[in-house]
Parts: sequence; C-alpha cells; structure tokens
Amino acid sequence: MPVAGRVVLCRAGFEREAAGELAACAGAAGVAGFARAEPGSGLAGFELHDAGDRRALHNATGWSGLVFARTVWDLHGRVQELPTRDRVTPLVEALRALPLRFADLRLESADSPAGRRLAGLARTLDRPLRTALDRAGVLDTGATAILHVLLTAGDAAWLCAAAPASSSPWPGGIPRLRFPSSAPSRSTLKLEEAFLVLMDEGERARWLGPGLSAVDLGAAPGGWTWQLVRHSIRVTAVDNGPMQPALLDSGLVKHLRADGFRYRPARPVDWLVCDMVEQPRRVAALVAGWLAAGRCRRALFNLKLPMKKRREEVTLCLELLRRSVPGITLRARQLYHDREEITVLALPRAPRAQSPRALR
Ligand SMILES: C[S@@+](CC[C@H](N)C(=O)[O-])C[C@H]1O[C@@H](n2cnc3c(N)ncnc32)[C@H](O)[C@@H]1O
Repeated sequence: MPVAGRVVLCRAGFEREAAGELAACAGAAGVAGFARAEPGSGLAGFELHDAGDRRALHNATGWSGLVFARTVWDLHGRVQELPTRDRVTPLVEALRALPLRFADLRLESADSPAGRRLAGLARTLDRPLRTALDRAGVLDTGATAILHVLLTAGDAAWLCAAAPASSSPWPGGIPRLRFPSSAPSRSTLKLEEAFLVLMDEGERARWLGPGLSAVDLGAAPGGWTWQLVRHSIRVTAVDNGPMQPALLDSGLVKHLRADGFRYRPARPVDWLVCDMVEQPRRVAALVAGWLAAGRCRRALFNLKLPMKKRREEVTLCLELLRRSVPGITLRARQLYHDREEITVLALPRAPRAQSPRALR
C-alpha cells in the first residue's frame, strides 16, 4: 500500500507540539490521517489514510506557519527490516518503485539521542547508496526534488522528498554556527540563527547595517548586542546586570541599568530585540505595545515556554500580537539554538519578502 504524508524534524521533547501542528494543517486541508510522535525522537509525522490526498495535503496553507518544525518533507514510504549485510539494495528497490526522480540525496537521522547514534551509519551508507541510486537512475540531474532518507533505526528508514525552496537548506534543518570567541554568551548564536532562518538575504542586507539603531531588552552580558554591533548597529542595552566591557568599548553600545518593561526610547528605533526571561504573554504584550506605538520598526524576541501547554501559549501570544497590531507579519520558529523557547520576528506591515518556509 502506498504511504503518503508529511514529516517534520524538531527539537527532541517537542514532538507533541510538532505533531499537533501537522494535524492542524491536515485538518485545515480537510484530509484524514493520523499523526505519529514518539516522545524524544526529534521527529513527527502525519500519515494520510488515503494516499490519493497527497496533493491536497501538500498544497494546504499553513506550512509556512509551523513553529516547532525545523524542516518539512513529503513522506513517500517506509522501509523496515533492512538486513545488516546489505541495507542499500532494498532501499534502492523501494526508491526505484516511486514515480519520482531526485536531484540529490541526503541521508539523515533525527537530532535526538537515538538519532545521533545513527549518524555514523548515515555517513557510512551515504556513498554506496548514492552510487547505487545513480546507477538505478533514481538520481537525475534534471530533477528538482531532494531525496531525504531518514534513518529511524539501524534497520529502518523513512523515504521523504522536498523541493529545495520548501525545505531547510541545512541538513536536519540545523545551521551549524561557530561560537565567536569574543562573544560574551552562547545566546549570541540564537540571534545569529534568527537572522539566517527568519530573514532572507535581501532583508538581511536592508535591515542589518551601519546607521541603524536597536534597543536590546534583557541584554546582559551582551550576546545579542554583540550580533547587532557586528552589523555596526547602534544599541541601547537595557539590563540591570553587567555587560561585557569590550562591547561597551565599541562605541556603539549605551548600557542602561533599567527595567525593560518600563524603558521607552526617546526616538523610534529600527529594532527592538528582547531576550528577557519572563512570562511569554508579558513579553508579547510589551512588544505589541512598542510596535503599535511605532517605537520600533521591527522586533525580534524570545518567548520562553517552561509550561506544559506550550503550543497553546504560543498561539495565545501570536494572537495577542495580531490583535494589537493589525496587518502584522509574524515569523515564529523554535530555532536549533532555542531550548524551551521560540523566537519571533514581528514586522508591522506585510513585507514583499518571500515566505519564511522558503528559508527552511
Ligand atoms: C537570557 S538573559 C539574556 C542574555 C542576552 N540576550 C545575551 O545574549 O547575552 C536574560 C536577561 O534578562 C534580564 N532581565 C530579566 N528581567 C528584566 C527586566 N525586567 N528588565 C531588564 N532586564 C531583565 C536579566 O538580567 C538577564 O540578564
């Protein structure tokens, strides 16, 4: 029986949220199926009852709004009981039987303890599988879709595909970033990843550069400020805690020991960024107030999610922002460098930019 559905990779421990989003998209498309989400696996899937609904599921709106997915693929099959002595032959047979050809192969495993144990096997299988798929004509330079073979066990794999424009350009949806040795905290990687994942190249060129201004609420010790300074942006860093002295020496940073919920800028700024550890609804309301009053042109902030009903909390916060700032564009994602939190980019007026899904 043909298998059809969608697969997402997510942070381990957030499978329930990712599966809930998948089911919501399928529900909106009016197709029936069931969501799979093994806790701790780092992946979630939605399998259609009727493979004939594949196109309707694929074309459903809402994929660009997935918050907990790092990447999203179409599911085309599952292979089990791969023999240890030759896993390649049954994989090639299963792939040759699909009515699809692929431009490239990515052999992957999930970002979870079990997935990481399979990473070595994925590396070992890559070359022999690629060669065999080439010979079998499954890999074809004229094709556009990328084949993602996701190892789910030593003897099992999910066969998935995605157009490059609709899935992440990074294996597993994880941009591998190097921690800059002069940055004051590892949090710096969250903002760097947000710039990469939530904005396209043109937006980065227009929105990050000399002459721009930012307020960083909850700035200490300065990891986010460091990223803004790296782009020559002038920053007012608001935090009662100490900032890294070298950052203050840059001449671009003014440190204010103040309450981030009370501080207001004298003049509108280009960016509000906020990484305060606070109730997400309080942060959402604060950001909404800044945007509605025109105190900033755009905002990038974290919503911390230590609670059980994380998806519900996110929905509530995003709704609050939409209600307070009509016409707002929100791009929300749990980034690789986010732990129990998500990152949101808020743009008060709809930009002409491509959708964030295209940046996955
Ligand atoms: C996660 S840390 C920020 C890390 C920072 N983004 C970085 O990259 O180094 C959270 C910060 O929020 C600050 N904070 C919490 N509540 C605050 C408030 N009401 N006003 C200002 N800062 C606050 C804390 O002092 C703490 O330094």
